[in-house]
Amino acid sequence: MKLWEMVLCALLSTLISLILGGLYRIGLFRQKRPKEPPLDKGLIPWLGHGLSFGKQPVPLLQQMRKKHGDIFTILVGGQYIHVLMDPHTYGFIFKKSKSKLDFGVFASNVVSKAFNFQPTTTHHKIGEDGSRKYLRGKSLLALNQSLMQNLKEILLESAEEKWRQEGLWHFSYKTIFQAAFLSLFGTVPELTSNSKENTKERSCKPYEKLFEDFQQFDEYFPQMILNSIDSKTKKEIQRLKNYFWDLLSVEKIDKREDISIWLADQDQQLADAGMNEKMRTQVQLLFLWASQANTGPVTFWLLAYLLKHPEAMKAIRAEIDQVLKETGQEQNPTNLSLQAIKTPLLDSAVEEALRLKAGSFVFRSVMEDLNLQMDDGKEYDLRKGDHLLLFPFLGLHMDPEIYPEPETFKYDRFLSPEGKRKEFFKNGKKLRTCILPFGGGPSMCPGRFFAVSEIKIFTILMLTFFDIELVNPEEELPSSIEHRIVIATAHPTRDIDFKFRRRL
Ligand code: HEM
Repeated sequence: MKLWEMVLCALLSTLISLILGGLYRIGLFRQKRPKEPPLDKGLIPWLGHGLSFGKQPVPLLQQMRKKHGDIFTILVGGQYIHVLMDPHTYGFIFKKSKSKLDFGVFASNVVSKAFNFQPTTTHHKIGEDGSRKYLRGKSLLALNQSLMQNLKEILLESAEEKWRQEGLWHFSYKTIFQAAFLSLFGTVPELTSNSKENTKERSCKPYEKLFEDFQQFDEYFPQMILNSIDSKTKKEIQRLKNYFWDLLSVEKIDKREDISIWLADQDQQLADAGMNEKMRTQVQLLFLWASQANTGPVTFWLLAYLLKHPEAMKAIRAEIDQVLKETGQEQNPTNLSLQAIKTPLLDSAVEEALRLKAGSFVFRSVMEDLNLQMDDGKEYDLRKGDHLLLFPFLGLHMDPEIYPEPETFKYDRFLSPEGKRKEFFKNGKKLRTCILPFGGGPSMCPGRFFAVSEIKIFTILMLTFFDIELVNPEEELPSSIEHRIVIATAHPTRDIDFKFRRRL
């Protein structure tokens, strides 16, 4: 062979191996092994189902489930995601140790895209410990109490005896946002005073812009995670982040009064662990988003359902009136402690709103080759480096076998005829967990108890102090922007007008 022929051969073989290597990397040659779940790579190499997963994840997963059953693997932008729908097998996943199925990899990815910092194991641990300590027990009681006061102040300050009309989404989200912000992040000192003017300032004006900018930031959240941002939006997101980083800067946070122990203690711990001020501020924005982005929407949906279902409104109002009477507070629930009262109908209605509108993705990264044992006895191999996805909204909440007429709001769905908490079954077997609005296992939402308290306190106060009605009772409730549910809670496609007037 001549020299030029040898060089050409070498070049050709290098080129072929480069191309094959590239094709291998984009997943063209990956084949399903015998014990692996059904594999669906879609039509586009590497991207696979990436486009529909980003834009319309719910219909995509519904379609894949119909085609492949309760477990399947999809290719999404070079990543292999095993989707598990069988709720009886969720427990197996939640119990697996972090060294086998890790939630931190995905969470860190989201946090770094949306909040610009990379959490370490130490930060995770501080967050976990702080939330376990300060979002339960006595600290939760104190938070509830503070929220009750703030909500009352905000609601009653603008209340009149004549009917007032508002958009229900805007009103409920904004009110709960302001009250929870005051309870968690405290107040700016100069705005804390007993004078009437300052009370108005404290509860309204400064929070209008904060709320609007928060909603805007939250609107961009899915785009931030998916990295699909044009340059104009990028600038706007940066403006919003700068605004929040200024508001939540260490210097300003240090000056705030009545900041919750949950936030104050975690910030101190992070400072002690050597985290710089910029990052501590970025953490505060994460806490602001996590604590506010879902409670307002669920509160809206619950109130909307109650307004649309007069029999539910009547039953729950009667239950609340009865409880207040029993505690001698029918004229003014001042020190209502949720712990001290029983409201099974309201509890059921809150769960029903969560079932219908919350049930986000739960992600895990497969850290080592794993044998997944399904509840029905089947076993599947998952490869190290792949991902595992649970979607309780489809796998559990919307399953007609578990919840007949799953799309319908039934306020007492979670109560048995004897008034006890109902049990739910799938394939004839009792479910250990029947709704998962807050994720599950070690990554489960640490704020879930406070979230439920917020929703209940808001509803109790609205139903106690106000007559409330839809402006047009015939109007259908808005449908959901469904893809939001994969992040946590569904938003409505539009607002709906309601009216309210002081009842007490
Ligand atoms: C209805 C209201 C809420 C819903 C539906 C909700 C849902 C969730 C979900 C699904 C997760 C992720 C769980 C996982 O990855 O497995 C989460 C995380 C979290 N939630 Fe909530 N949540 C709510 C309210 C709250 C509140 C009120 C707080 C705080 C007071 C809070 C604080 C957090 C925090 C700190 C995280 C962890 C964020 C991280 O480090 O990545 N949440 N929540």
